[in-house]
Amino acid sequence: MLLPDKKIIVTGGASGIGAATVRAYAREGARVAALDVQDASGRRVAAEAGDAVTYHHCDVSSREAVHEVFARVVAGLGGLDVLAHVAGLERGTPAEDIPDEEWDLVFDVNVKGTLYTNQVAFRHMQARGGHIINFGSGAGIRGQRGSAHYSAAKAAVMGWTRTVAQEWARYNITVNSVVPAIWTPMYDAHRARMSPGELSIHDLAMQHVIPLGGRLGDPDRDIAPVMVFLAGDGARFITGQAIAVDGGMIMLG
Ligand SMILES: NC(=O)c1ccc[n+]([C@@H]2O[C@H](COP(=O)([O-])OP(=O)(O)OC[C@H]3O[C@@H](n4cnc5c(N)ncnc54)[C@H](O)[C@@H]3O)[C@@H](O)[C@H]2O)c1
Repeated sequence: MLLPDKKIIVTGGASGIGAATVRAYAREGARVAALDVQDASGRRVAAEAGDAVTYHHCDVSSREAVHEVFARVVAGLGGLDVLAHVAGLERGTPAEDIPDEEWDLVFDVNVKGTLYTNQVAFRHMQARGGHIINFGSGAGIRGQRGSAHYSAAKAAVMGWTRTVAQEWARYNITVNSVVPAIWTPMYDAHRARMSPGELSIHDLAMQHVIPLGGRLGDPDRDIAPVMVFLAGDGARFITGQAIAVDGGMIMLG
């Protein structure tokens, strides 16, 4: 086992990459608290992952909720070694039409969610170190047509990550962001916004731009093992990075 008795919080644990991360951490011997707002699927993922996983409702865009749930969960775990902050939300609207409420929702969940969870994790890790894994996006690097707010929010997450990686290194806390291209319910929703014509062009483009396999990867097979590595002692000398797990779509310099 690669993560024996590690105490880990996974946000966004009810779906997609977060759910695969919960399963992988439990298999590797960690004690995992999975947080999400989709309670039915969150509880199901946790139950299927075994006794070492508990599920807790937590809206990461609420400072109060994050503080309250993290305090309770960390007390139950007996500490915090790793925060995998996977929770995120994408919306698709032409840039010129984005209303305030949608901009705020996208920034509250993706950016403030990162601020709140990372700040609380820092307090728990300050004395003995730890790993924080945030989620960026290719949208935050290249931009993504139809999601200017999401692209801007993910760029903010990666800028935050690089900065706190520098500030918190002296506490032996590493902070990295993952840049995925993984087939999840979020990607299904992204596809559902396309017309049949756009979808066939998109699929052809993916065949061209993803050298490994020509399509987005599988959560359990393609990204969960990377999440295990980033949570383990072997990743102790990696910080401030945006790590692309995308079949080679973005080759970061
Ligand atoms: N799938 C990809 O290819 C891709 C690409 C780039 C970035 N990402 C990022 O990876 C992360 C995981 O995405 P995914 O594809 O697994 O998406 P997903 O939609 O399958 O899962 C996201 C989870 O976050 C949860 N969530 C949303 N708002 C929340 C809130 N306020 N509080 C707590 N939980 C909340 C959702 O309920 C869901 O369970 C996200 O941050 C996403 O932006 C994914």
